[in-house]
Amino acid sequence: MADPRPIGLFDSGIGGLTVFRALGRRLPGEQILYLGDTARVPYGNKSRETVTRYTRECAHFLLRRQIKALVVACNTASALALPALLSELPVPTLGVLQPGAARACRLSASGRIGVIGTEATIRSGAYTEAIHRIRPGSEVFGVACPLFVPLAEEGWTEGEVERLVAQRYLSAFDGKGIDTLVLGCTHYPLLKGVIREALGPAIQLVDSAEAAAEEAARLLEAHELLDDRERGGEPHFYVTDSSQRFAEVGSRFLGTSMGRLEQVDITGES
Ligand code: DGL
Repeated sequence: MADPRPIGLFDSGIGGLTVFRALGRRLPGEQILYLGDTARVPYGNKSRETVTRYTRECAHFLLRRQIKALVVACNTASALALPALLSELPVPTLGVLQPGAARACRLSASGRIGVIGTEATIRSGAYTEAIHRIRPGSEVFGVACPLFVPLAEEGWTEGEVERLVAQRYLSAFDGKGIDTLVLGCTHYPLLKGVIREALGPAIQLVDSAEAAAEEAARLLEAHELLDDRERGGEPHFYVTDSSQRFAEVGSRFLGTSMGRLEQVDITGES
């Protein structure tokens, strides 16, 4: 039986569109409600308490819109807040961390795995824990790459500056012998080209957006929540700050106009 209710998806800002796009490709029959907390981005340099409060507000805002499942597209929210909030969320909920970690464990031959993410994600050790749980004995090396977020927001993804920044950050993996790298942040798939160039072709990149879309499809199927229409309803985008910049960068990224886009206030949602 088809369930026409939408899927809710949120991120601290615009980077979650990488997950939105992957999810839309994998599940074209679904309608997606996207919330970007653009007034409070970035989450990646904030404390666990603050990120948990923001994550709760985002989740409850979407829950009030009759979603059938929730995807937390933000790696920082998935790492710092999701475990504590899962029990209060009444719909099947998925973060991006677990699917990314599981895919890296499957792909890595040597068990030597690199993870890049925001400062908060790397400091939390959540990827390392998840990878160790799935594949005990593996070696995980985490590196924070905070400048990748503003570069991607600016649309700077394949020039000289980004190349230098990537080389500088990723040289931290020299001599570590990793064969797999998790792109543990919504924005990093946008910089895949320069990341690959800096690391060389031998290291496989794990895009947690794609891994999460696969896992979301499995989750919906397991709960008999799939919508099997050929094409889902129009997406609806909510942002917590002025929508103009989101519309500009977002439509450039998606290659299409953003359709329904609305500015909302989510403070105090619970
Ligand atoms: N969405 C965040 C993440 O995936 C990156 C941007 C931010 O720091 O809020 O970790």
